[in-house]
Amino acid sequence: MELILGGIEENSDNRTREYTFTQADFDRIRKLIYQHAGISLSTGKKNMVYSRLARRVRASGLNSFHEYLNFLERGNPEEWEAFTNALTTNLTAFFREQHHFPILEKHVENRKNQKKIQLWCSASSTGEEAYSMAMAMVQAFKTFTPPVHILATDLDTNVLAKAQLGVYPLDKLEKLPKEKLKQFL
Ligand SMILES: C[S@@+](CC[C@H](N)C(=O)[O-])C[C@H]1O[C@@H](n2cnc3c(N)ncnc32)[C@H](O)[C@@H]1O
Repeated sequence: MELILGGIEENSDNRTREYTFTQADFDRIRKLIYQHAGISLSTGKKNMVYSRLARRVRASGLNSFHEYLNFLERGNPEEWEAFTNALTTNLTAFFREQHHFPILEKHVENRKNQKKIQLWCSASSTGEEAYSMAMAMVQAFKTFTPPVHILATDLDTNVLAKAQLGVYPLDKLEKLPKEKLKQFL
């Protein structure tokens, strides 16, 4: 249930909201992001969607999610990009799924006679996974110039810009073993 209290909305979990955000708005967003980017948002993500997109409603100078979605659907390409970027979840870390990397090393070791090995990090977020793959390749080939090409892509243009920059806060490196820190950074 949602109550509108003099311009500030109170929703069922008693949080106040600056903009009206109805179930129909949420359903419309779920449908749009699925059609546009293949992202499937679960029905439990309503509060998350509100907090991610309220910034876009504000930045667009509009008064409600309904107006914002009408504006979006009129086809502004820059807003589609911002809308998509706001709805992606970019959690990542160096060697986040540690057990994958020895498997990758083994996989390329069996292909060492190939001229060039191409790896694709298809949802790279801010780049930690692609750089972890690069470190694993240095280890597998025992050289800093392994015959490997790594392509990193992501739907979210903001995270890709960070990946390209390759600058990370020190706390992002805390979980890396000391020998890797010494060897690579
Ligand atoms: C949780 S992060 C995972 C990052 C990294 N792969 C890792 O495991 O550490 C998920 C990433 O997938 C991206 N993403 C979601 N849908 C995508 C798609 N259809 N194509 C490319 N990237 C996508 C998001 O933008 C986000 O950065």
